[in-house]
Amino acid sequence: MQTGQGQVIELILQDGLRSARLSCSGNLIPAPGQYLLAGDDSDSLLPVPLFYTDSAPSGFIAAPPLPDSWNPGHKLRLRGPLGRGFLLPASSRRVALAACDDMPARLRGLIRPSLKQNAAVVLVCDSASDSLPDDVEVQPLSALSDVCEWADYLALDIARENLPELKQRPEKLNQIPALREAQILIRTPVPCGGLAECGACAVTLKSNWMMACKDGPVFDWRDIWE
Ligand code: FES
Repeated sequence: MQTGQGQVIELILQDGLRSARLSCSGNLIPAPGQYLLAGDDSDSLLPVPLFYTDSAPSGFIAAPPLPDSWNPGHKLRLRGPLGRGFLLPASSRRVALAACDDMPARLRGLIRPSLKQNAAVVLVCDSASDSLPDDVEVQPLSALSDVCEWADYLALDIARENLPELKQRPEKLNQIPALREAQILIRTPVPCGGLAECGACAVTLKSNWMMACKDGPVFDWRDIWE
């Protein structure tokens, strides 16, 4: 984990929301699924979690949402990379990325590595998704069950409060652990990033709880499913 300075270089509209190209040193750039905590000199008390969505010269493109007060030139204090990110198996050739309740921005970082290893990629979401490579197929969430059957690697993104609903889906999601690799990014507030052990990010897994800020935010599906 490093600390350093960053800067907003350019604002970008991604999936209808405000994201940004940031500059920072290479050792601060988070892997897909990891995050940085960003603060500035304003009165805002809570640092902002920044997730990787794509590469950019001298930095990366951070997933939305971002504070309205951030404009080009805005200086940031950065801490990270934090947490556990996605681990795309090198053997995967059929990759499914499913944004269960939000935009797919935090999953986009897996698209280029997947295409690079000649995997077919299907993005499953019900939100708008702009500027995707031509090779990426988009399917609605209603197709999630079929896409799960097809994929040999599945990455999901869901808010902590929606996890129980996902676990109760009657489709073939309960076959995932036995059949294929699957990981899930669980979104929670991460105000301290594990520094103060605040517990705001606690996630209940099978029989225990873990802290999404440092044990996650990406967990293996086997840790979740009963
Ligand atoms: S964010 Fe404080 S312990 Fe996880």
